[in-house]
Amino acid sequence: MNDLTPTYRFAPAFQAPTGSAIRELFKYLAQPGMISFAGGYPATGFFDQANLQLAADRALRESPVDCLQYAATEGLPLLREQLTALMARRGAQVDVADLLVTTGSQQGLDLLIKVLLSPGDQVLVERPTYPAALQALRLAGMQVHSAATDAQGLDTDALAERLAGLPHGAIRLLYCVPTFANPTGACLSLERRLALLALAARHDFLIIEDDPYGALRFAGSELPSLLALSEQVEGARGRVVHLSSLSKVVAPGLRIGWLIAPPAVFTRCVIAKQTVDLCTSPWAQRIGALYLQEGALERALPGLAQGYGAKCQRMLEGLSGLQEVLEVSPPAGGMFIWGRCRHGVDAATLLQRAIKQNVLFVPGSAFYAQEADASSIRLSFAAPSLEQIDEGLLRLGRAFG
Ligand SMILES: Cc1ncc(COP(=O)(O)O)c(C=O)c1O
Repeated sequence: MNDLTPTYRFAPAFQAPTGSAIRELFKYLAQPGMISFAGGYPATGFFDQANLQLAADRALRESPVDCLQYAATEGLPLLREQLTALMARRGAQVDVADLLVTTGSQQGLDLLIKVLLSPGDQVLVERPTYPAALQALRLAGMQVHSAATDAQGLDTDALAERLAGLPHGAIRLLYCVPTFANPTGACLSLERRLALLALAARHDFLIIEDDPYGALRFAGSELPSLLALSEQVEGARGRVVHLSSLSKVVAPGLRIGWLIAPPAVFTRCVIAKQTVDLCTSPWAQRIGALYLQEGALERALPGLAQGYGAKCQRMLEGLSGLQEVLEVSPPAGGMFIWGRCRHGVDAATLLQRAIKQNVLFVPGSAFYAQEADASSIRLSFAAPSLEQIDEGLLRLGRAFG
Protein backbone atom coordinates (compact mmCIF):
# COMPACT_ATOMS: atom_id res chain seq x y z
CA MET A 1 0.00 0.00 0.00
CA ASN A 2 1.13 3.54 -0.76
CA ASP A 3 2.41 5.64 2.10
CA LEU A 4 -0.42 8.11 2.58
CA THR A 5 1.54 10.49 4.79
CA PRO A 6 1.35 13.94 3.22
CA THR A 7 4.56 15.34 1.77
CA TYR A 8 4.91 19.05 2.35
CA ARG A 9 6.97 20.92 -0.20
CA PHE A 10 7.91 24.41 0.78
CA ALA A 11 8.84 27.54 -1.11
CA PRO A 12 12.62 28.09 -1.13
CA ALA A 13 12.52 30.86 1.49
CA PHE A 14 10.51 28.63 3.84
CA GLN A 15 12.58 25.44 3.61
CA ALA A 16 14.27 26.19 6.92
CA PRO A 17 13.12 29.66 8.02
CA THR A 18 14.21 31.19 11.29
CA GLY A 19 11.55 33.04 13.27
CA SER A 20 11.97 36.30 15.11
CA ALA A 21 14.55 36.15 17.91
CA ILE A 22 12.42 38.58 19.92
CA ARG A 23 9.31 36.42 19.68
CA GLU A 24 11.43 33.50 20.95
CA LEU A 25 11.83 35.43 24.20
CA PHE A 26 8.08 35.63 24.74
CA LYS A 27 7.97 32.20 26.37
CA TYR A 28 9.93 33.58 29.32
CA LEU A 29 7.29 36.25 29.92
CA ALA A 30 5.14 33.57 31.55
CA GLN A 31 7.85 33.04 34.22
CA PRO A 32 6.29 34.37 37.47
CA GLY A 33 7.61 37.81 38.42
CA MET A 34 9.50 38.30 35.14
CA ILE A 35 10.34 41.94 34.32
CA SER A 36 10.71 42.51 30.60
CA PHE A 37 12.78 45.19 28.91
CA ALA A 38 12.50 43.10 25.73
CA GLY A 39 9.52 43.90 23.45
CA GLY A 40 8.70 47.28 21.93
CA TYR A 41 5.31 47.13 23.58
CA PRO A 42 3.49 50.33 24.58
CA ALA A 43 2.74 50.71 28.30
CA THR A 44 -0.66 49.15 28.96
CA GLY A 45 -1.36 51.92 31.48
CA PHE A 46 -0.97 54.50 28.69
CA PHE A 47 -3.74 53.09 26.52
CA ASP A 48 -6.48 55.71 26.20
CA GLN A 49 -9.14 53.14 26.96
CA ALA A 50 -11.95 55.59 27.78
CA ASN A 51 -11.72 57.48 24.48
CA LEU A 52 -11.18 54.29 22.51
CA GLN A 53 -14.30 52.89 24.14
CA LEU A 54 -16.26 56.00 23.12
CA ALA A 55 -14.96 55.74 19.54
CA ALA A 56 -15.75 52.01 19.44
CA ASP A 57 -19.30 52.55 20.76
CA ARG A 58 -19.95 55.34 18.26
CA ALA A 59 -18.45 53.34 15.39
CA LEU A 60 -20.83 50.43 15.72
CA ARG A 61 -23.86 52.49 16.75
CA GLU A 62 -23.59 55.13 14.03
CA SER A 63 -22.18 53.13 11.11
CA PRO A 64 -22.86 49.43 11.72
CA VAL A 65 -22.82 48.44 8.06
CA ASP A 66 -19.60 50.34 7.34
CA CYS A 67 -17.97 48.56 10.31
CA LEU A 68 -19.20 45.11 9.42
CA GLN A 69 -18.98 45.12 5.62
CA TYR A 70 -15.90 44.86 3.34
CA ALA A 71 -14.45 48.23 2.42
CA ALA A 72 -12.24 49.79 -0.25
CA THR A 73 -8.69 48.45 -0.27
CA GLU A 74 -7.29 52.01 -0.09
CA GLY A 75 -8.91 52.52 3.31
CA LEU A 76 -11.91 54.31 4.81
CA PRO A 77 -12.19 57.87 3.41
CA LEU A 78 -12.67 59.32 6.90
CA LEU A 79 -9.54 57.63 8.23
CA ARG A 80 -7.49 58.63 5.19
CA GLU A 81 -8.58 62.24 5.72
CA GLN A 82 -7.73 62.11 9.42
CA LEU A 83 -4.31 60.56 8.74
CA THR A 84 -3.59 63.16 6.06
CA ALA A 85 -4.41 65.86 8.62
CA LEU A 86 -2.12 64.10 11.12
CA MET A 87 0.69 64.13 8.56
CA ALA A 88 0.09 67.87 8.00
CA ARG A 89 0.46 68.45 11.75
CA ARG A 90 3.74 66.53 11.47
CA GLY A 91 4.88 68.94 8.76
CA ALA A 92 4.22 66.87 5.62
CA GLN A 93 1.59 68.06 3.13
CA VAL A 94 0.18 64.87 1.67
CA ASP A 95 -2.58 64.25 -0.83
CA VAL A 96 -5.31 61.92 0.52
CA ALA A 97 -5.02 59.99 -2.76
CA ASP A 98 -1.40 59.07 -1.91
CA LEU A 99 -2.20 57.59 1.52
CA LEU A 100 -2.99 53.89 1.79
CA VAL A 101 -4.27 52.44 5.06
CA THR A 102 -2.37 49.25 5.91
CA THR A 103 -2.80 46.50 8.49
CA GLY A 104 -0.01 47.84 10.69
CA SER A 105 3.00 49.51 9.11
CA GLN A 106 4.58 46.06 8.91
CA GLN A 107 2.18 45.30 6.08
CA GLY A 108 3.23 48.49 4.33
CA LEU A 109 6.81 47.26 4.27
CA ASP A 110 5.78 43.87 2.95
CA LEU A 111 3.71 45.44 0.16
CA LEU A 112 6.61 47.67 -0.85
CA ILE A 113 9.01 44.73 -0.99
CA LYS A 114 6.50 42.91 -3.19
CA VAL A 115 6.00 45.71 -5.68
CA LEU A 116 9.43 47.32 -5.77
CA LEU A 117 11.97 44.50 -5.53
CA SER A 118 12.99 41.25 -7.19
CA PRO A 119 14.93 38.43 -5.49
CA GLY A 120 18.65 39.19 -5.55
CA ASP A 121 18.20 42.98 -5.52
CA GLN A 122 20.64 44.85 -3.34
CA VAL A 123 19.12 46.85 -0.53
CA LEU A 124 20.58 48.82 2.35
CA VAL A 125 19.51 48.90 5.96
CA GLU A 126 20.98 50.67 8.97
CA ARG A 127 23.47 48.79 11.08
CA PRO A 128 21.77 47.80 13.42
CA THR A 129 18.14 47.78 12.21
CA TYR A 130 14.60 46.62 12.99
CA PRO A 131 14.60 42.78 12.83
CA ALA A 132 11.18 42.33 11.20
CA ALA A 133 12.38 44.48 8.30
CA LEU A 134 15.48 42.31 7.99
CA GLN A 135 13.32 39.21 8.12
CA ALA A 136 10.90 40.51 5.46
CA LEU A 137 13.75 41.47 3.11
CA ARG A 138 15.55 38.18 3.61
CA LEU A 139 12.47 36.02 3.13
CA ALA A 140 11.86 37.88 -0.13
CA GLY A 141 15.37 36.93 -1.26
CA MET A 142 17.07 40.33 -1.16
CA GLN A 143 20.78 40.89 -0.75
CA VAL A 144 20.75 42.97 2.42
CA HIS A 145 23.76 45.19 3.14
CA SER A 146 24.13 47.37 6.17
CA ALA A 147 25.18 50.99 6.35
CA ALA A 148 27.11 52.31 9.36
CA THR A 149 25.36 54.41 12.00
CA ASP A 150 26.45 56.37 15.05
CA ALA A 151 24.66 58.30 17.80
CA GLN A 152 23.16 60.59 15.11
CA GLY A 153 21.83 57.74 12.98
CA LEU A 154 23.05 56.83 9.48
CA ASP A 155 26.60 57.96 8.80
CA THR A 156 25.90 59.71 5.49
CA ASP A 157 29.59 60.47 4.81
CA ALA A 158 30.44 56.79 5.03
CA LEU A 159 27.40 56.00 2.90
CA ALA A 160 28.44 58.53 0.24
CA GLU A 161 31.88 56.95 0.05
CA ARG A 162 30.43 53.48 -0.24
CA LEU A 163 27.93 54.43 -2.95
CA ALA A 164 30.64 56.19 -4.94
CA GLY A 165 32.40 52.82 -5.24
CA LEU A 166 29.33 51.03 -6.66
CA PRO A 167 27.88 51.07 -10.18
CA HIS A 168 25.14 53.67 -10.64
CA GLY A 169 21.79 52.28 -9.52
CA ALA A 170 23.32 49.18 -7.86
CA ILE A 171 21.35 49.83 -4.66
CA ARG A 172 17.63 49.72 -5.30
CA LEU A 173 16.36 50.82 -1.97
CA LEU A 174 17.34 51.93 1.53
CA TYR A 175 15.14 51.10 4.50
CA CYS A 176 15.61 53.30 7.58
CA VAL A 177 14.01 54.45 10.82
CA PRO A 178 15.40 57.99 10.98
CA THR A 179 13.49 59.19 14.04
CA PHE A 180 14.11 57.28 17.30
CA ALA A 181 15.31 54.16 15.61
CA ASN A 182 14.57 50.65 16.65
CA PRO A 183 16.90 49.46 18.22
CA THR A 184 19.29 52.39 18.83
CA GLY A 185 16.87 55.23 19.64
CA ALA A 186 19.05 57.45 17.43
CA CYS A 187 17.58 60.44 15.59
CA LEU A 188 19.09 61.40 12.25
CA SER A 189 20.26 65.04 12.28
CA LEU A 190 18.79 67.58 9.84
CA GLU A 191 22.08 67.88 7.98
CA ARG A 192 22.23 64.13 7.48
CA ARG A 193 18.57 63.96 6.41
CA LEU A 194 19.34 66.41 3.64
CA ALA A 195 22.55 64.55 2.74
CA LEU A 196 20.69 61.23 2.55
CA LEU A 197 18.06 62.67 0.22
CA ALA A 198 20.77 64.12 -2.02
CA LEU A 199 22.43 60.67 -2.13
CA ALA A 200 19.14 59.03 -3.13
CA ALA A 201 18.82 61.51 -5.99
CA ARG A 202 22.46 61.13 -7.11
CA HIS A 203 22.54 57.33 -6.94
CA ASP A 204 18.94 56.72 -7.98
CA PHE A 205 17.53 54.72 -5.08
CA LEU A 206 14.28 54.88 -3.13
CA ILE A 207 14.10 55.43 0.60
CA ILE A 208 11.58 53.70 2.84
CA GLU A 209 11.19 55.96 5.85
CA ASP A 210 9.63 53.95 8.67
CA ASP A 211 8.33 56.30 11.35
CA PRO A 212 6.32 54.61 14.10
CA TYR A 213 8.08 56.47 16.96
CA GLY A 214 8.54 60.07 15.71
CA ALA A 215 5.59 61.43 17.72
CA LEU A 216 7.09 60.12 20.97
CA ARG A 217 9.69 62.86 21.40
CA PHE A 218 10.54 63.82 24.97
CA ALA A 219 13.71 65.88 24.46
CA GLY A 220 15.17 68.21 21.84
CA SER A 221 13.24 69.86 19.05
CA GLU A 222 11.24 68.31 16.27
CA LEU A 223 12.83 67.54 12.91
CA PRO A 224 11.05 67.32 9.57
CA SER A 225 10.56 63.85 8.15
CA LEU A 226 12.49 62.72 5.07
CA LEU A 227 9.15 62.82 3.27
CA ALA A 228 8.62 66.50 4.12
CA LEU A 229 12.23 67.38 3.27
CA SER A 230 12.16 65.52 -0.04
CA GLU A 231 10.26 68.50 -1.49
CA GLN A 232 13.26 70.73 -0.82
CA VAL A 233 16.12 68.62 -2.14
CA GLU A 234 16.72 68.66 -5.87
CA GLY A 235 15.85 65.30 -7.43
CA ALA A 236 14.58 63.81 -4.15
CA ARG A 237 10.86 64.37 -4.74
CA GLY A 238 9.04 61.06 -5.19
CA ARG A 239 11.96 59.07 -3.80
CA VAL A 240 10.64 58.66 -0.25
CA VAL A 241 7.94 56.19 0.70
CA HIS A 242 6.77 56.93 4.22
CA LEU A 243 5.37 54.36 6.65
CA SER A 244 3.75 55.16 9.97
CA SER A 245 1.41 53.59 12.45
CA LEU A 246 -1.08 54.07 15.27
CA SER A 247 0.51 51.10 17.09
CA LYS A 248 2.88 52.99 19.37
CA VAL A 249 0.74 56.09 19.99
CA VAL A 250 -2.76 54.58 20.19
CA ALA A 251 -2.78 50.78 20.32
CA PRO A 252 -1.10 48.00 18.33
CA GLY A 253 -4.31 45.98 18.69
CA LEU A 254 -6.00 48.28 16.18
CA ARG A 255 -3.47 47.10 13.54
CA ILE A 256 -3.66 50.41 11.72
CA GLY A 257 -0.72 51.74 9.79
CA TRP A 258 -0.36 53.80 6.63
CA LEU A 259 1.84 54.17 3.63
CA ILE A 260 2.41 57.33 1.63
CA ALA A 261 3.80 56.75 -1.83
CA PRO A 262 4.02 58.39 -5.25
CA PRO A 263 1.07 57.38 -7.51
CA ALA A 264 2.94 54.70 -9.52
CA VAL A 265 4.01 52.93 -6.30
CA PHE A 266 0.69 53.56 -4.57
CA THR A 267 -1.50 51.90 -7.23
CA ARG A 268 0.72 48.81 -7.24
CA CYS A 269 0.60 48.58 -3.44
CA VAL A 270 -3.21 48.69 -3.59
CA ILE A 271 -3.23 45.77 -6.02
CA ALA A 272 -0.72 43.85 -3.88
CA LYS A 273 -2.87 44.44 -0.79
CA GLN A 274 -5.95 43.05 -2.56
CA THR A 275 -4.43 39.58 -2.48
CA VAL A 276 -3.18 39.90 1.09
CA ASP A 277 -6.24 40.98 3.06
CA LEU A 278 -8.63 42.79 0.66
CA CYS A 279 -8.84 45.63 3.14
CA THR A 280 -7.71 46.54 6.66
CA SER A 281 -10.49 45.79 9.19
CA PRO A 282 -13.14 48.46 8.47
CA TRP A 283 -14.30 48.20 12.07
CA ALA A 284 -10.85 49.03 13.42
CA GLN A 285 -10.48 51.77 10.80
CA ARG A 286 -13.74 53.39 11.86
CA ILE A 287 -12.68 53.32 15.53
CA GLY A 288 -9.29 54.82 14.65
CA ALA A 289 -10.90 57.49 12.45
CA LEU A 290 -13.38 58.58 15.13
CA TYR A 291 -10.66 58.58 17.78
CA LEU A 292 -8.58 60.93 15.61
CA GLN A 293 -11.57 63.05 14.60
CA GLU A 294 -12.43 63.60 18.27
CA GLY A 295 -8.94 65.05 18.77
CA ALA A 296 -8.17 62.31 21.32
CA LEU A 297 -4.72 61.53 19.94
CA GLU A 298 -3.69 65.19 19.98
CA ARG A 299 -4.82 65.42 23.60
CA ALA A 300 -3.03 62.22 24.54
CA LEU A 301 0.32 62.86 22.83
CA PRO A 302 1.86 65.31 25.33
CA GLY A 303 1.11 62.88 28.18
CA LEU A 304 2.53 59.95 26.25
CA ALA A 305 5.75 61.79 25.45
CA GLN A 306 6.05 62.92 29.04
CA GLY A 307 5.28 59.44 30.39
CA TYR A 308 7.82 57.70 28.16
CA GLY A 309 10.34 60.47 28.89
CA ALA A 310 9.97 59.81 32.62
CA LYS A 311 10.47 56.07 32.11
CA CYS A 312 13.51 56.66 29.93
CA GLN A 313 14.97 59.04 32.51
CA ARG A 314 14.39 56.47 35.27
CA MET A 315 16.10 53.78 33.23
CA LEU A 316 19.06 56.04 32.45
CA GLU A 317 19.39 56.85 36.17
CA GLY A 318 19.42 53.15 37.02
CA LEU A 319 21.87 52.41 34.23
CA SER A 320 24.29 55.02 35.54
CA GLY A 321 24.91 52.52 38.35
CA LEU A 322 25.96 49.97 35.73
CA GLN A 323 28.29 52.22 33.74
CA GLU A 324 31.33 50.13 34.67
CA VAL A 325 29.83 47.23 32.74
CA LEU A 326 27.43 48.79 30.23
CA GLU A 327 27.81 51.82 27.97
CA VAL A 328 24.51 53.35 26.76
CA SER A 329 23.31 56.08 24.38
CA PRO A 330 20.47 58.27 25.79
CA PRO A 331 17.63 58.72 23.27
CA ALA A 332 15.48 61.85 22.80
CA GLY A 333 12.32 59.84 22.09
CA GLY A 334 10.88 56.46 21.18
CA MET A 335 10.97 53.35 23.34
CA PHE A 336 14.54 52.03 23.37
CA ILE A 337 17.97 52.40 24.94
CA TRP A 338 20.83 50.76 23.11
CA GLY A 339 23.84 49.57 25.04
CA ARG A 340 27.19 47.83 24.67
CA CYS A 341 28.55 45.57 27.35
CA ARG A 342 32.09 46.45 28.34
CA HIS A 343 34.94 43.96 28.89
CA GLY A 344 33.81 41.78 25.96
CA VAL A 345 30.76 40.41 27.80
CA ASP A 346 28.66 38.37 25.37
CA ALA A 347 25.02 39.53 25.37
CA ALA A 348 23.59 36.04 24.69
CA THR A 349 25.41 34.65 27.77
CA LEU A 350 24.30 37.67 29.78
CA LEU A 351 20.70 37.01 28.72
CA GLN A 352 20.83 33.46 30.11
CA ARG A 353 22.03 34.85 33.44
CA ALA A 354 19.40 37.61 33.28
CA ILE A 355 16.61 35.07 32.73
CA LYS A 356 17.72 33.32 35.95
CA GLN A 357 17.42 36.71 37.69
CA ASN A 358 13.93 37.16 36.17
CA VAL A 359 14.69 40.03 33.81
CA LEU A 360 14.62 40.08 30.00
CA PHE A 361 16.28 42.18 27.31
CA VAL A 362 17.05 41.57 23.63
CA PRO A 363 20.63 40.65 22.71
CA GLY A 364 21.79 42.98 19.95
CA SER A 365 22.68 40.24 17.47
CA ALA A 366 19.01 40.12 16.37
CA PHE A 367 19.41 43.55 14.79
CA TYR A 368 22.32 43.02 12.42
CA ALA A 369 22.21 42.06 8.74
CA GLN A 370 25.74 40.70 9.09
CA GLU A 371 28.70 40.65 11.49
CA ALA A 372 26.67 41.18 14.64
CA ASP A 373 28.13 43.05 17.57
CA ALA A 374 27.72 40.27 20.15
CA SER A 375 28.16 42.64 23.09
CA SER A 376 25.23 44.95 22.23
CA ILE A 377 21.83 44.89 23.93
CA ARG A 378 18.47 46.62 23.50
CA LEU A 379 16.47 47.68 26.52
CA SER A 380 12.91 48.98 26.23
CA PHE A 381 11.69 51.27 28.99
CA ALA A 382 8.17 51.54 27.53
CA ALA A 383 6.17 48.70 29.08
CA PRO A 384 7.54 48.29 32.64
CA SER A 385 6.45 50.58 35.49
CA LEU A 386 8.98 52.91 37.14
CA GLU A 387 9.28 50.46 40.04
CA GLN A 388 9.81 47.56 37.65
CA ILE A 389 12.51 49.57 35.87
CA ASP A 390 14.35 50.06 39.20
CA GLU A 391 14.00 46.42 40.19
CA GLY A 392 14.77 45.09 36.70
CA LEU A 393 18.02 47.04 36.57
CA LEU A 394 19.06 45.70 39.98
CA ARG A 395 18.50 42.23 38.59
CA LEU A 396 20.42 43.08 35.42
CA GLY A 397 23.28 44.27 37.59
CA ARG A 398 23.29 40.91 39.38
CA ALA A 399 23.31 39.15 35.98
CA PHE A 400 26.52 41.02 35.12
CA GLY A 401 27.86 39.49 38.35
C1 LIG B 1 10.63 50.22 13.29
C2 LIG B 1 9.33 49.53 13.33
N1 LIG B 1 8.58 49.46 12.23
C3 LIG B 1 7.40 48.85 12.22
C4 LIG B 1 6.90 48.24 13.36
C5 LIG B 1 5.59 47.50 13.26
O1 LIG B 1 4.55 48.34 13.55
P1 LIG B 1 3.02 47.95 13.29
O2 LIG B 1 2.45 47.52 14.58
O3 LIG B 1 2.44 49.25 12.79
O4 LIG B 1 2.97 46.91 12.23
C6 LIG B 1 7.63 48.28 14.54
C7 LIG B 1 7.13 47.60 15.75
O5 LIG B 1 7.82 47.33 16.68
C8 LIG B 1 8.88 48.96 14.52
O6 LIG B 1 9.64 49.01 15.61
